[in-house]
Amino acid sequence: MDLAGKKIVLGLTGGIACYKAAEFTRALIKAGASVQVVMTAAATHFITPVTMQGLSGKTVFTDQWDARIGNNMPHIDLTRDADAIVIAPCSADFIFKLAHGACDDLLSTLCVARPATVPLLAAPAMNVEMWQNPATQRNLTQLQADGIQLLGPDAGEQACGEVGMGRMLEADQLLEEVIASFQPKLLKGKRVLVTAGPTFEPIDPVRGITNLSSGKMGYAVARAAYEAGAEVTLVSGPTALTTPYGVRRISIQTAQQMHDIVMAQMAAHGGTDIFVAVAAVADWRVANASSQKLKKNADGSAPQLVFEQNPDILATVAALPKAPYCVGFAAESENLLQYGEAKRIRKNVPLLVGNIGHDTFGKDDNQLVLFDAGGHTELARAGKQELARQLIAAIAARLGK
Ligand code: C5P
Repeated sequence: MDLAGKKIVLGLTGGIACYKAAEFTRALIKAGASVQVVMTAAATHFITPVTMQGLSGKTVFTDQWDARIGNNMPHIDLTRDADAIVIAPCSADFIFKLAHGACDDLLSTLCVARPATVPLLAAPAMNVEMWQNPATQRNLTQLQADGIQLLGPDAGEQACGEVGMGRMLEADQLLEEVIASFQPKLLKGKRVLVTAGPTFEPIDPVRGITNLSSGKMGYAVARAAYEAGAEVTLVSGPTALTTPYGVRRISIQTAQQMHDIVMAQMAAHGGTDIFVAVAAVADWRVANASSQKLKKNADGSAPQLVFEQNPDILATVAALPKAPYCVGFAAESENLLQYGEAKRIRKNVPLLVGNIGHDTFGKDDNQLVLFDAGGHTELARAGKQELARQLIAAIAARLGK
């Protein structure tokens, strides 16, 4: 329940993307938030207040002169205990109004009248030409200068049939952004590279050797780093997971490919500040992989596979002259405290995260032990996302943040 106890005022303005606001309301509530919906007159042409009331479980406000609030000041009262105001969808017209401080209906007045401590987030949704229009871009610049956080938009196919920027983010992406907005920006301005998932080492074009890593922990670390304000690249082996919003993902199959991408990132302009190696990298690859599918032999003999060792990505990065702050993971099956510390020293990394492999593979929760030069700290069993946030805080603390 990432939004437990949070009070969100959800503003809807006129746009086809209002249909996504229904799903978004459900997602917010499922995450523990309470949602107070406020709609402009235009929004009610796209989705009814009845639907939004049914989903939010609260009276929907659309009118500045609504007498249902005791003092008849909905523009004041609706935000006084709010944790955030989210406008989704936010039309080009409403962006203009926000940029100029217009107060000609309930939602715009409520935004201008919000306490300075209540963050305002806006998810633009409009046709690509409206998005690109210099007037819209001018207004957006003003919004950002005023500290209003923009969520998206995305590029893609639009309801009008045109293609380009202006699609509103999907409900789950909006939810991730709202959750992220409440996280402390401990890694603002930092570049973080995360490896995640298994690798797949081919035997022939249809077979290969892999391992049981689901990628969940690594993806959680990438998301937590993004939430903390970092610019995040995720180098991922084959997984079925959705890339966290805001994270750049590069997909690979083999350990050698992961190594090559990671090393290219290290050499790239600007480099990397923090490297978190969560991937379960195969220690060996098949040296005599076949370019054609291997066939069964008539005499019943099995193919003879020859293995060669893969490069150790973490150790290679840690040994660079200008190495980033390196964090390794160790999945052990026993003696975690002893093996974890030994591995940290062997890999020459300042921080190593230990867990028991068979207690974590594929699961949504985990239990971690952090090893550094000062000893070890245990992070109690919790969801992987929660643990990833604790790990990011631990890394930031070690970097003096
Ligand atoms: O030696 P071991 O595989 O147990 O070390 C685990 C740590 O090293 C993890 O952080 C893993 O991502 C990293 N690793 C690596 N390249 C390898 C093997 C492991 O980066 N070839």
